[in-house]
Amino acid sequence: MRKKPIVAANWKMHKTRGEAKKFIDALKEKDWSGTEVLVAPPFTSILDAKKAAERSMIKVGAQNVSEHEEGAYTGEVSAKMLKDVGAEFVIIGHSERRRYFHEKHETVRNKIENALRHGLIPMLCIGETQEERENGTAHKVIERELVQTFKGLSEEKMGSLILAYEPVWAIGTGLTATPEIAQEAHLLCREILSEIFSDAYAKARPILYGGSVKAENAGKLLEKPDIDGFLVGGASLEVASFEKILQEARGG
Ligand code: PGA
Repeated sequence: MRKKPIVAANWKMHKTRGEAKKFIDALKEKDWSGTEVLVAPPFTSILDAKKAAERSMIKVGAQNVSEHEEGAYTGEVSAKMLKDVGAEFVIIGHSERRRYFHEKHETVRNKIENALRHGLIPMLCIGETQEERENGTAHKVIERELVQTFKGLSEEKMGSLILAYEPVWAIGTGLTATPEIAQEAHLLCREILSEIFSDAYAKARPILYGGSVKAENAGKLLEKPDIDGFLVGGASLEVASFEKILQEARGG
């Protein structure tokens, strides 16, 4: 039987507290029990989103977390603080964080460890750039990202982890990876995870696809055996477009 598809909204730097509440209030009116619905608001709206999501199946998380436990790190938000406002998962290593905030593998690894220590599910994002896809190094890049990120981490410590394959050239561009390209990358991720950890661990990991996902391409992508759901940016900002993706995910 197919796993329940996971559909996660990454709101990026959008939505005030009131807007977040309004979105979740509308979303929870419908029964989404065929899917796992995750929403990652900006830090300031997490608590309101969480309250709005009470008595629903919607899980609320964050888009980032500090690599440090606590201390003099002006502007940072710790895993403990995220847990305190009710976050259940956290997006880590998104390509926008790597590009604009220069996050390196080691930072990403520290964030994953911090998240796990505080009982947050890390959602690790990886993916190649357009140049890497064009010059044929995409698979090498994916492998390097996974190997470097998980260096020194043991399976016992890892526990829950969600992986998101997000080719940088597909994020916010309207260019979605074809189901074949995405499937190939997802299978590769699973094989690499199986080499680093174990076959059983790799098989159990949900691997989401992200990059210009919309209702029109969601169904075909989900038909592929190693695509377990989506991380959605632009199309998650309006309730209507997000709901259409959820409908596709649960089979129309
Ligand atoms: P997009 O963003 O759906 O707007 O391409 C996806 C993401 O950045 O997670």
